[in-house]
Amino acid sequence: MLKVFSEICSNVGKSLGKRSLQTSTTLQHDSLFVHRDSPEDNPDVKFEFTPENKKRVDAILAIYPDGHKRAAMIPLLDLAQRQYGWLPISAMHKVAEILKLPNMRVYEVATFYTMFMRKPTGKYHVQICTTTPCWLRGSDEILDAIKSNLNIDVGETSKDKMFTLSEVECLGACVNAPMIQINDDYYEDLTVQSTNEILDACKAGEKPNPGPRSGRFAAEPLGEPTSLIDPPPGPGFGVRKDL
Ligand code: FES
Repeated sequence: MLKVFSEICSNVGKSLGKRSLQTSTTLQHDSLFVHRDSPEDNPDVKFEFTPENKKRVDAILAIYPDGHKRAAMIPLLDLAQRQYGWLPISAMHKVAEILKLPNMRVYEVATFYTMFMRKPTGKYHVQICTTTPCWLRGSDEILDAIKSNLNIDVGETSKDKMFTLSEVECLGACVNAPMIQINDDYYEDLTVQSTNEILDACKAGEKPNPGPRSGRFAAEPLGEPTSLIDPPPGPGFGVRKDL
């Protein structure tokens, strides 16, 4: 039903010459919810945690009391993805084995959260938010700049396997719109120029500093504050005088 509704919205958008409100699910529904064996992703592909990550697995499991170890599933899937670069089905099976759960319990989680990449992903996963606040602040231009800089479309990985581009919903940094996430870092208050600088730095093997590109430290107002400008009253303000 959801898929039908999504396709109707997409087609209405196309007939009006407008882009769909949301494209990720329409474009990726197959890879998000369905597993099909492929040469690089099938149960025969071996997956083992590295010795270093095995220690991390033990440390994660130790957080949860007996009888509740399955709560470690998301941290373990995340660890597997960080080790492998994406999350093959054999890594899900390994997590199910560690947690002593049926594979299906792990599939349910791994297919629900879009943070789990279930197909080969570039070294830099570029996620651009195009939800309303970012869109109003120019995310369309930023998306075009990324596509042309990387020469890939949404959902694609560059030929050198360095970059994967995803279009995502709100990443919770609306006050710094428009913004992108690259791997674990947010880059905010973007312009076409600053976006290109960030991508070029990644291509050069550098790690650009995350954060706003507007000169702001974080999400404070640009320029002078316009509210909460009086000095805060000291302790005891408003307390009854006879106390
Ligand atoms: S709308 Fe883009 S971060 Fe919220």
